[in-house]
Amino acid sequence: MMIKAGNNEMIREMEWCRDIVDERLHELFAEAGSSYATLVESMRYSLLAGGKRVRAVICMKFCEASGGRPEDAIDAACAIEMLHTYSLIHDDLPSMDGDDMRRGKPSNHVEYGEFTATLAGDALQAAAFETLANAPLPASSVIEMIKILSYAAGAHGICGGQYLDLSGEGWHLTIDELLELYAMKTAALISAAARLGVIAGGGSYEQVAAADAYAGAIGLAFQVRDDVLDCIATTEELGKPTGSDIENEKSTFASLLGTEACEKMINKETEKAISAIEGKFDNTEFLTWLALVLAERKN
Ligand code: IPE
Ligand code: IPE
Ligand code: MG
Ligand code: MG
Ligand code: MG
Repeated sequence: MMIKAGNNEMIREMEWCRDIVDERLHELFAEAGSSYATLVESMRYSLLAGGKRVRAVICMKFCEASGGRPEDAIDAACAIEMLHTYSLIHDDLPSMDGDDMRRGKPSNHVEYGEFTATLAGDALQAAAFETLANAPLPASSVIEMIKILSYAAGAHGICGGQYLDLSGEGWHLTIDELLELYAMKTAALISAAARLGVIAGGGSYEQVAAADAYAGAIGLAFQVRDDVLDCIATTEELGKPTGSDIENEKSTFASLLGTEACEKMINKETEKAISAIEGKFDNTEFLTWLALVLAERKN
């Protein structure tokens, strides 16, 4: 594989996507005075705090690979980031992972209190669907996207995965149980991001399936890398507390297999992702590069 992580052209493309997503998110969440201004401020606090915007980039780049322009998927990408941010706000709550730092700042509930943080998450999830429903795309595409995103967000996706994650604390989960949990809590949303991108770009059913296979593998590798980083990185590098999984007695691939086996697993899933899209799109150079960069990420 001749693609290098330090490829300047690819980095520029990724940063361009991130910048226009951030710009659009600021536009969608303009500051406004109201009796519930603090709730909106708390939503802005977490949503506009940065974040790698990996899911948004995946969405926009699959749109481009399917024949559209990356910006055709901008509202879908923003919707995904809203939903993702909601899941992080709730994930940090004392009743869930109980983490007091996120994206380099105090967690939402630390800054605003628990009821505001809970409602900020709820309202961000609603805003995601509102944004998607208003996207300037054909109505049939929008309906398909809403079906995909709602499934990924619900009991068979993030919520179900988070339920398995939290109810498994203190228990030794098996590899198969962990694979199911990771597919739901993490890969489901990454796969939705990829498929929404293909639909926004007017791609074929076969391309939607290829995007799903790529993102399923990337999603698993992404969570395994997150688990490894929770063990070996620093809070400064991650912008969130490390050692959280051990403290919460969670079964992770890192705790079950050790970090060395995790590296092998990440590489295997990354190869799987790359071969899933090979020959299925006109140009897969960026998505191939992205899979490799994510495998090696340090935050
Ligand atoms: C964190 O996601 C939660 C996981 C699924 C591991 P990210 O690592 O994408 O977090 P941000 O968006 O960059 O903050
Ligand atoms: C992923 O798992 C969280 C969600 C699906 C929301 P983690 O709990 O490991 O994510 P971090 O490490 O807190 O970002
Ligand atoms: Mg969690
Ligand atoms: Mg967590
Ligand atoms: Mg984690």
